[in-house]
Amino acid sequence: MKITDTSDLWWKTAVVYCLDVETFLDSNGDGIGDLQGLAQRIDYLSQLGVTCLWLMPFYPSPDRDDGYDVSDFYGVDPRLGTHGDFVEVIRTARDRGMRVIVDLVINHTSDRHPWFLAAKRSVDSPYRDYYVWRDDAPPKGQKNAVFPGQANGIWGKDEKSGQWYQHSFYEHQPDLNIANPRVRDEIAKVIGFWLQLGISGFRVDAVPFLLEIPEGAGIPEPHELLRDIRRFLQRRSSEAILLGEVNLPYDEQAQYFGGDDGDELTMQFDFVGMQSLYLSFARKDPAPLIEALRARPVLGAEVQWANFLRNHDELTLDKLSDSERQEVFEAFAPDERQRVFGRGITRRLPPMLDGDPRRIRMAYSLLFTLPGTPVLFYGEEIGMGENIEIPGREAVRTPMQWSHDRNGGFSDAAPSRLVARPPSDGYAPEHVNVAAQLDDRGSLLHFIRALTTSYRISPELGWGTFEVIDQQADSLLVHSLSADVGKIIALHNFAEVPVTTSFRLADEPEGTTLVDLLESSRLTLDPKGGVELEVPAYGYRWLRVSRPGDGRVT
Ligand code: GLC
Ligand code: CA
Repeated sequence: MKITDTSDLWWKTAVVYCLDVETFLDSNGDGIGDLQGLAQRIDYLSQLGVTCLWLMPFYPSPDRDDGYDVSDFYGVDPRLGTHGDFVEVIRTARDRGMRVIVDLVINHTSDRHPWFLAAKRSVDSPYRDYYVWRDDAPPKGQKNAVFPGQANGIWGKDEKSGQWYQHSFYEHQPDLNIANPRVRDEIAKVIGFWLQLGISGFRVDAVPFLLEIPEGAGIPEPHELLRDIRRFLQRRSSEAILLGEVNLPYDEQAQYFGGDDGDELTMQFDFVGMQSLYLSFARKDPAPLIEALRARPVLGAEVQWANFLRNHDELTLDKLSDSERQEVFEAFAPDERQRVFGRGITRRLPPMLDGDPRRIRMAYSLLFTLPGTPVLFYGEEIGMGENIEIPGREAVRTPMQWSHDRNGGFSDAAPSRLVARPPSDGYAPEHVNVAAQLDDRGSLLHFIRALTTSYRISPELGWGTFEVIDQQADSLLVHSLSADVGKIIALHNFAEVPVTTSFRLADEPEGTTLVDLLESSRLTLDPKGGVELEVPAYGYRWLRVSRPGDGRVT
C-alpha cells in the first residue's frame, strides 16, 4: 500500500456519517432542519473525525417515504434550502477535508414526478415507457412489496388505462424501467449534475431492485447496466464512488462488486455481518459474527465493505433464521411496538443494550475494527435513543440533540411544529446531548472521537487482511488486520465477565511490542512471541504490533 493508494482510494479508510438535513439543525425556526443549519455544524463533524458525509434525500418530494419518493432529481426541497445553500455545504465540507456523497434513488420515482404524471396522461406519451406496465391483473400469489402491510403486492392499478404499474416499494413509488435507454440517459444526466456541484459519489438505493429487469426486455445481462453507470461516473470524476444498498446473501451480493477489477459498486453495506453481530450481542457469544466474517467474500483491492450498527431503516434481521430472529427480538425488542414488518427492530442501539456504557462502547469499538469502512448514523456518537411513540421506521429519525435547550437545540420553533418529536424518556435531550458530552471527557462523544482518531491513523483497519487469532476464551473475538504498513490486533469481550487470554504471534522479530492505541500503554511479547492479557467485562482493546525500527510514530 503506497501513500497514493491510501489517499486516492479514500473510501478504503473513510469515516462515513449519514444524516438527514431535515432532522439535523434548523437555522430559520420553521421546525425543519435545513442546509444552512448543516453548514453551521460542519466543524462539529470535522472534529468528530468524519471524512465523508452521506446526505439522505434532500430533493423535492411529497415526502411520503422520507424523501425516498423523489419528484425532481435535480432540485433541492425548498423547505431545506436552495442549490446555493447546497453548494455552500459542499464547499465548507471540502475545506475541512470532508467529502460528501448523496442518495441516488433511481429504482423508482414518486407518483407525483412529472414523468409519471405524463406517463399516466396517455399511453402514447414518450414517458409511458419510463415505467414498467402490465396489461393483465397481477397473478394470484404475486410477490410481496418490500413493506408488507403498507402495500398490497407490487402492482398498482392505473384506472385511466386499465393497466398496472410495478412498484417494488410503496404504491406511490412506481418503478422506473431502466431497460429503456432513455431512462438510462436520464440517470446519467442526474449523476453528472450532482458531480458537477462537487460531490464525491452516491449512496445507491435499492440496487437489486434496480437491476430486476423483466425477461424479454432485451437486457440479457442486467449487471452490464450497473457497469455502465460506474463507467460513466468514473469518466466524469475519478474519485467518485458508488456505495450500494444490497441486502442479499454474500454469494449473490459479491456479484454487485463486479469482476476482479471491481467495476460495479465501489462499496456495499455488510447487512449479513451486521445481523450476525446482533445475534452475537444477544447470545453474548462472538461465534455467529465470526462465522459471518469468515464467510464474507474476499474483495479486490479497490472495493470495500461498509460496516454499520444502525441505519435510518428498521434494523433488519431478514437474513437470520426464524429462530435466530426470534432470539434477537426477545433480547432487544421485547415489546411488539419495537418491531416492524415481521423482520426488523425500530430501536437505536443504546436502549437495546439497556444503556450499559460498557456494551455500547464495545459495540462501537467493534464497528471501527471490523475489516472495512465504518458508517455512523447521526446521533450515534452521543448515544441517542429512539422515540418509541413514533411508530415504524420513523422512530429513529428524530432531531439531532445538540443541547438541553428547548427542542434539544435543534430548532426554535414551537414543539408542535417540529418535523419529528425527540424522545421524552431517559434519552430525551436533557439527558443525551452534544453540549453536555463535549464538556465531559469521559462521554461517549469523546470516546467515539478517540475511535475515529485511532481508525484514521491505522490504515490496516481499512486495507488489512482479516484473521481470527486462536485463543482459549470463548467470549472473546480476537482478530487481526494486516497490511504492508503493519498489523492491528483487536480484542472484544461479548460477555459480562472479565476474561484472561493468551495467544502467540509467530514470526515477529525480537523486540516487537504491542501498543495499546486506546490506553496509550505498551505490552512486551515474551521470547516466544506470546502475550497474556485480561479483558474486562464487555471490554475491548486495540493493539498495534510495533516492530523495532518500523518508524511509525502515530
Ligand atoms: C431504501 C431506503 C429506504 C426507502 C426504500 C425505498 O431501502 O433505505 O429508506 O424507504 O429504499 O426507496
Ligand atoms: Ca428550517
